[in-house]
Amino acid sequence: MTEQTLRYGFLGCGMMGQEHLRNLAMVPDTQVVAIWEPNAAMRDVARQFAPQAEFADSLAALLARKDVDAWVITSPNHVHAEQLLQIKAAGHPRPILLEKPACTHVQDVAKLRALAASYAAPIWTAMEYRYMPPITKMIEVAHRGEITGEAVMFSVREHRYPFLTKVGDWNRFARNTGGTLVEKCCHFFDLMRLVMRDDPVRVYGSGGQNHNHLNESYAGQAPDILDNAYVVLDFPRGRRAMLDLCMFAEGARYQEELAVVGPLGKLECKVPGPGRFWPKELGDAPIAVLTANQRHKTGPEGWTNHPRIEAVAPQSIDIPVDPQLLAAGDHNGSTFYQHQKFADVARAYKLGASKQGTAAQVEVSLSDGLKAVLIGLAAEESARTGVAISLVDGVYKL
Ligand SMILES: NC(=O)c1ccc[n+]([C@@H]2O[C@H](COP(=O)([O-])OP(=O)(O)OC[C@H]3O[C@@H](n4cnc5c(N)ncnc54)[C@H](O)[C@@H]3O)[C@@H](O)[C@H]2O)c1
Repeated sequence: MTEQTLRYGFLGCGMMGQEHLRNLAMVPDTQVVAIWEPNAAMRDVARQFAPQAEFADSLAALLARKDVDAWVITSPNHVHAEQLLQIKAAGHPRPILLEKPACTHVQDVAKLRALAASYAAPIWTAMEYRYMPPITKMIEVAHRGEITGEAVMFSVREHRYPFLTKVGDWNRFARNTGGTLVEKCCHFFDLMRLVMRDDPVRVYGSGGQNHNHLNESYAGQAPDILDNAYVVLDFPRGRRAMLDLCMFAEGARYQEELAVVGPLGKLECKVPGPGRFWPKELGDAPIAVLTANQRHKTGPEGWTNHPRIEAVAPQSIDIPVDPQLLAAGDHNGSTFYQHQKFADVARAYKLGASKQGTAAQVEVSLSDGLKAVLIGLAAEESARTGVAISLVDGVYKL
């Protein structure tokens, strides 16, 4: 270990925690030194990926360790808010990488906003979709503007397999997850804010549980999570984004299909799901594709007044992901790229910005994480009530 080495402590080490361990093992100058994981079977698996880590007997014992340089929270959604507060109360602030969603109830938002303002170290909300190489590329091209101009519409279609089984089945109930539109869709609302470079003002949702988990029962209770939805976000200046979610669409060639459209043209990004779920009999899993389709500007007034819309032949690029990164998780390499950037932030904090030169910046703050949760909670309420929900005033104010 050198002064540069970052020592990590983990809160929870199930499926996603283990993905973080495998990816962190590829980031230079990092070591996982301590883990609090209450489930013995999960401890055994996690030990394989971090053989040098010590397993704490309790959260209090973990948080008492002063040799930890950064925390990674990969526990279930409904304990995130409380664990952030417990880390703060432990009194030796260290950078935190917090798995989404930041919290699950609207009442937690004010507490976490206060925490964000007073916590002395950086907090980064883990939003892996931003760091999937094809999506990172799509955002970069969209923001450069030469293909689309300013984005007017942005749609995200996610058609995939149902929720996986989790330790203790916590993800079967909205009280633990925040609801499907918080649990997984906070990723997409985060992308919408990022691509549109603005906060939405209103949300409309329509969703239901038509197919999945209907015959399951946990201690006599039936799961209550949506398995399909449409959600529309209104953005300032007449722009909009839409989510089309279906979780009984196994075998879809692409798990996510994103489209950005502006006055000049259209960008499409197609991202395959995890290779481990791609049927072997269909051969190699699809590679992510980014397609740009720009209209000709014809005539002195440009294409808008032209009677026909002419299009330049679409240009597509395949975006392969390093097979080693694909093998380390289910998220197209994004967990690795996110860890590289978080490590830069944590190291700058450890060494002091002056030693690092320019301090690395948190790219997804706790405030960003909370806004994604609020949009998801408001979308859930809209789907329940059939009423459009304001995001500029009331309990869901961003
Ligand atoms: N960003 C993504 O794409 C992505 C993907 C999957 C999961 N996640 C997030 O990662 C987190 C973990 O999800 P998962 O899929 O690994 O679930 P999981 O059930 O596989 O793992 C959660 C682990 O936390 C442990 N745990 C339970 N209570 C705990 C507590 N109070 N403190 C510490 N650990 C506790 C459980 O024993 C389990 O091992 C969730 O917040 C989830 O939303 C994110």
